[in-house]
Order: sequence, then structure tokens, then C-alpha cells
Amino acid sequence: MVLVDTHAHLLPFWDDGADRWDTALGMLRAAEEDEIGAVVCTPHILSPKDMEHEDALWVRYEELVGRSAEAGLKVKIHMGSELFAHPGIDLKRRIATPAQNGRYFLVEFPMGSMPDFVLKGFFTQIGKEYTPVIAHPERYARIIQNPREAMILVEKGALLQINAGSLLGVFGGAIKETAVKLLDANLVHMVASDAHDLKARPLRLQPAFTVVAEKYGREKAQRLFADNPARILRGEDVIADPPRPIEEAPKRGFWQRLEIMTKK
Ligand SMILES: [Fe+2]
Repeated sequence: MVLVDTHAHLLPFWDDGADRWDTALGMLRAAEEDEIGAVVCTPHILSPKDMEHEDALWVRYEELVGRSAEAGLKVKIHMGSELFAHPGIDLKRRIATPAQNGRYFLVEFPMGSMPDFVLKGFFTQIGKEYTPVIAHPERYARIIQNPREAMILVEKGALLQINAGSLLGVFGGAIKETAVKLLDANLVHMVASDAHDLKARPLRLQPAFTVVAEKYGREKAQRLFADNPARILRGEDVIADPPRPIEEAPKRGFWQRLEIMTKK
């Protein structure tokens, strides 16, 4: 089965992702070994000012595609971005929607004030023709404290993308637990790598695919790691089961809260 990764910091010399061309090519090689057939470059766009560099990012993307072909790699590389939620972000820009699907955009929020910020205006700022795909909701402090708040985001029309590493415990136990709760409640629409490098945050999906397949079955895993991500790139509706209730979170102690707030 060919997996599709909708979130990867592959483009070098831009953000905290690949630090040079070799790293980017190594990440693509790892993706190929992992049976990932397509990946989206999602450089961070932190403000409308970053969007002024769109042309330069396209040039770098084309160079990556060329170097990848020269290296004999087959993984299909798409262009997109990870938008930091900002009132001035222009969703009509070509890199605003992954693979230029014109409908879905990948968005992240301030770790501490989500979903307050989201509920207070984000959904009214975007046009009806656009659907936000919220990156790694399981890492936001408010969602960890109360995963039921994720339900509100989905009810408002957002899709949720969790990180493969979260399911493997890369970001700690509380985030892993939250990711599982969101999966249990059918609130996860896709899993992506959010890869940044070769080792700490690699471009791999298979280990997390196995976790999901063992707990929820292969069909669900295929949907979250292959089918829905491919539908996002084509701008088509995703497939989702109806959400299930999440039980109230137990109150966390001081040290657990500190762990959540200090995770990078
Ligand atoms: Fe990211």
C-alpha cells in the first residue's frame, strides 16, 4: 500500500526542517523505504510577510524535485505549507493549499491558547470554500487537558491531523494518550509525519501505521495514512466515522501539567 504524507519540513534553508540538501534527500530516501508514495513539503509560513517569499520557495521546491529525480528517487513531491493562523494569511496563494487543491489548508495555532483563539474568530476569518486541517491537535495544552474540546473543532468543520511520532511517544506520555483518545473518538482524519530531520523526527509512517492497524484494524489505518491524505491532495471529501463521546479527563497534577507545557 502506498502511504501519503501531508506534512513534512523537507525544504532546506527555510525553517527548522532539513538543514541541507543531503538531509532533504535522505528524508526522501527514508520515505521511499517506508513505502510513502507522495509527500507534501510544508514549510512554516508564520506571517503574511513570509508569504512574500513564496516565489523563492517554489524555486527551492523545483530544485528539490530535480535533485530527487537525479538521485533516482521515485517518491512524488508536492508543494504546500504549514500556516501559522494569522488574520492576514491569503489562502488564495498557491502554496496555501497542499498540492494546490484549492480547498484544504494545513494550519497550526499558538500551543498555549488553542482552542480559545480558534473558537474566538478563526472560523469566521476563513472563507466558506476553505477547510482547515489542524496540525497536531494532540500537542495543544488545552486539548491535552480536555480532549473533548477537539470535538468542538470538528463540529465547526475542521479536520484533524495527528503526528505519527505522537502515537509512538516521541512527545511524551500525555500527548500519546491524547492522540489515542482522539482516535478512539473518531476525531482523527489523517496521520502525517511532521518530519523535520533524519533521526529525531524522521519521514516515516509505517511504525505508527502498525500501531493504528493493530488497535483499530487495517482498513482504518489505510484510511488515515493513505486514502484521506490522497483525497486532501485532490481536494475531495475525506471519509470519517461519526464522532464518539470522550469521557471527561481526569484532573492532572502539577508535574504532569508541567510536562505538557514544556514539551517542544
Ligand atoms: Fe509542522
